[in-house]
Amino acid sequence: MKSEGSLHTVLEQTLEAAARISRAPRAALRAEEYGEVTSVGHGVARVRGLPGVRSEELVRFPGDLLGMAFNLEPDEVGIILLDEGPGLGSGALARRTHRVLDVPVGEALLGRVVDPAGRPLDNAGPVRTTARATIESPAPAIIDRAPVTVPMSTGAKVVDALIPIGRGQRELILGDRQTGKTGLAVDCIINQKGQRMICIYCAIGQRSSSVAKVVADLRQHGAAAYSIVLFAPGDAPPGQLFIAPYAAMAMGEYFMRKGLDALVVFDDLSQHARAYRELSLLLRRPPGRESFPGDIFYIHSRLLERSTHLRPELGGGSLTALPIIETEEQNLAAYIPTNLISITDGQIYLTPTLFQKGVLPAVDVGTSVSRVGGKTQLPAYRAVAADLKLSYSQFEELEVFSRFGTRIDEHTRRTLARGRAVREALKQPLYDPLPAAEQIAILLAATSGLFDDLPPEGVAAISAGIRRLLPVELPRIYELVDGGADLDADSRQALVEAARKAVDAWKPSKA
Ligand SMILES: Nc1ncnc2c1ncn2[C@@H]1O[C@H](COP(=O)(O)OP(=O)(O)OP(=O)(O)O)[C@@H](O)[C@H]1O
Ligand SMILES: [Mg+2]
Repeated sequence: MKSEGSLHTVLEQTLEAAARISRAPRAALRAEEYGEVTSVGHGVARVRGLPGVRSEELVRFPGDLLGMAFNLEPDEVGIILLDEGPGLGSGALARRTHRVLDVPVGEALLGRVVDPAGRPLDNAGPVRTTARATIESPAPAIIDRAPVTVPMSTGAKVVDALIPIGRGQRELILGDRQTGKTGLAVDCIINQKGQRMICIYCAIGQRSSSVAKVVADLRQHGAAAYSIVLFAPGDAPPGQLFIAPYAAMAMGEYFMRKGLDALVVFDDLSQHARAYRELSLLLRRPPGRESFPGDIFYIHSRLLERSTHLRPELGGGSLTALPIIETEEQNLAAYIPTNLISITDGQIYLTPTLFQKGVLPAVDVGTSVSRVGGKTQLPAYRAVAADLKLSYSQFEELEVFSRFGTRIDEHTRRTLARGRAVREALKQPLYDPLPAAEQIAILLAATSGLFDDLPPEGVAAISAGIRRLLPVELPRIYELVDGGADLDADSRQALVEAARKAVDAWKPSKA
């Protein structure tokens, strides 16, 4: 009995002791790993030490400055700096953080302007979100992807009719400087109002004044509420420019995974490629074509692979990407443009020649293509767009020849007149996106010959007239078109009739 009792006591004491140990605060057993900065260049630092650091791990410097481990060499680590500051020089301590860079994601970012680390730039207080996502994440597997089936209307006639884009597609916008690339992309964001689309404008390496203008335009047109602006200024460390598109993708993926539709505009990836080239050269990676590092293709394809349309079982969300590239002297065969043309599902090419002629948006229809969007185009467009592109390209060729002043036959003259009329009809000022039904009505008027031989101001005035008449005369057409109905003979007839009224209303005022 006694021995049993003592055994019981021993057991009790042991259990109690065990419980005490488990309640006691655990000793921090993880050894801190430090390294020492040996040199700091523009945008990069070299650190001795940090033997266990992993690729792309965040490293912290004095003053809470951040860097990202990039080149892991036997005795040194090359680090891309995300911040710069006075505390960062030779001899400074570098500390491992055991984590990769993540950014805040979620609804709280809507309407905000943030930097590539998700820190606010707009004086509107902290970003109040609990969700975070790493800026790098693997692209969805092939079996998780669904075909692109839903249109993403840009509101620009020339794009929606001739180069239609689908939700989940990657469409490149490229052109020389000052050809309207940003304008077209921002137009597209403005047109997403009421279309259940979240938009992210990722500005890489631009001047603050340009981005301030985009922010003001978005606010003025009521687009800020569903948009996020992520900005890595041109004078920021190149590391910030480099990570910006990944951070923007992470913000977009959050919405896609929730089953929503998101759009990311990268303005522009030429600056991103330049920042990466600068970092690679500073980190002494071997340069390749045009001095870009050999993995620049991989860098961009890995980024854009993340945009897709998910299967319905995964929520059916989508992430559309509109990367922008600046070409030099219209050279589409340069390294970065050819890379991106092959990575994306099509391109919209803007030319300075058309821009100078006042054909705005300055889209070169013959060189532009959308490889998956055609299937998503609203059926009603087919009535006008089916052979518009081919006949328009033929007209462009014909126009070049007709400049030689040779005598032309009546048929050619009419083809040229029709082509010019269509070109006038496709013109559109900035920030004036059109609903699909209005686009179709105007293009139908042009292809039916109602605009032939009219002066440009006539086409503009009649187009405006059609837009005024349509809601009054054919209010149901908007729903029909957006609902995916075919344009039957009656509706087509009714649209042409409405256009004819607009022509008649213009003609007397002209006389
Ligand atoms: N459709 C349009 N109608 C009228 N003006 C336009 C149109 N598109 C662009 N513009 C004007 O052309 C100028 C250049 O446009 P934008 O800034 O969009 O070009 P960009 O190609 O992005 O230029 P950058 O190379 O400097 O980035 C701007 O002043 C803009 O207002
Ligand atoms: Mg621009």
